[in-house]
Amino acid sequence: MEVGVIAASGYAGGEAVRLLSYHPNVDLTYITSRKLISKYFHSIYPNFRKISNLKFEEYNVEKAKEKCDIVFLAVPHGVSQDMVPGLLEAGLKVIDLSADFRLKDKTIYQHYYKKEHSHPELLDNAVYGLPELHREEIKNANLIAVAGCHASSAIYGLYPLVNENLIEVSNIIVDSKTGSSGSGAGFNESTHHPIRANSIRPYKMTGHRHTAEIEQELTCILQKNKKLNQQVKVGFSAHGVNLVRGILSTSHVFFNETQEIDEKILFKAYRMAYDKEPFIRLINQKIGTFRLPDPKLISGTNYSDVGFQIDKRMNRIVVLCTLDNLVKGTAGNAVQCMNIMCGFPERSGLEFPGFFPL
Ligand SMILES: NC(=O)c1ccc[n+]([C@@H]2O[C@H](COP(=O)([O-])OP(=O)(O)OC[C@H]3O[C@@H](n4cnc5c(N)ncnc54)[C@H](OP(=O)(O)O)[C@@H]3O)[C@@H](O)[C@H]2O)c1
Repeated sequence: MEVGVIAASGYAGGEAVRLLSYHPNVDLTYITSRKLISKYFHSIYPNFRKISNLKFEEYNVEKAKEKCDIVFLAVPHGVSQDMVPGLLEAGLKVIDLSADFRLKDKTIYQHYYKKEHSHPELLDNAVYGLPELHREEIKNANLIAVAGCHASSAIYGLYPLVNENLIEVSNIIVDSKTGSSGSGAGFNESTHHPIRANSIRPYKMTGHRHTAEIEQELTCILQKNKKLNQQVKVGFSAHGVNLVRGILSTSHVFFNETQEIDEKILFKAYRMAYDKEPFIRLINQKIGTFRLPDPKLISGTNYSDVGFQIDKRMNRIVVLCTLDNLVKGTAGNAVQCMNIMCGFPERSGLEFPGFFPL
């Protein structure tokens, strides 16, 4: 398979290049940028010196068709929706890292993205790129909308509880913290180092765009389980913290009144959901330094660590999930989706541990 990365100059595209360069089943043949045409990839990603002599090229559909079977689109949302139709018409498979095709309902898209979708007819065709929830659909997809980074982190933590009907689904609070690479390689005053460093910056307390994805995907689980009259409702808040990579989502959920609080039930739900998953790890140790998920341990990897603690006094479960926003939160999940779509071993190109200590 020949693969291209469109907008490989950005952080998400650059991370896709890092992963695809060592993937045993594909050749990375085409990387693009508007402002770096003819420059080496290693001119802006110096970690690739003496590793890759790939050069940035101009993007156009004809070139993509000539050089690739699959393209990873790492452009901003709002841009990819106008690029995808041409790529599909050219017969390419598209893995879109942006938010443009994640939401099924064009009115919800418009509400959160403040823009009318230019190709709503393709929304049904796109498969939400979260392998653990959509593996079968991904196998036959030609357009994958890779899940958002905060959304993936929230959904991985909450999915087993919703699936097993253990919590009140209309009263879920998610508090998510992210490193600075989540805002991309561009900068503005609020992402400037002196402003952002040494702080925990509350940046989107209400109305975060990923709220819609989390609600869509968890409600879809209820529908699959024939709970048709229920709707997941999530209050989502996001903070920027003093990290470059990594997200930690802390969700506060309440047991269904009909349920007895029991750790064993929770363990069973998480094990049923994730025991066979190659990249989701349940972390819940009684002793040791790292008893619960910690962003430090998954940095640079495609693993997502999930854990929980019960607060009996409040009838509450505190759910923790961490992932690297650039890997399991975007480029890694994109590669995992490609593996499923192409029939490669699902772990191909992704099976490496993080650093310890870091
Ligand atoms: N950063 C993350 O943690 C993360 C996580 C999940 C999903 N994503 C998604 O991945 C996509 C890329 O994010 P990023 O963080 O990599 O952003 P980024 O670092 O700002 O990179 C985006 C790249 O897109 C290109 N670009 C910008 N405007 C364009 C336009 N109008 N037409 C064509 N190309 C354009 C630019 O490349 P040139 O100027 O060189 O052409 C830029 O380098 C976004 O949709 C984002 O939501 C990012």
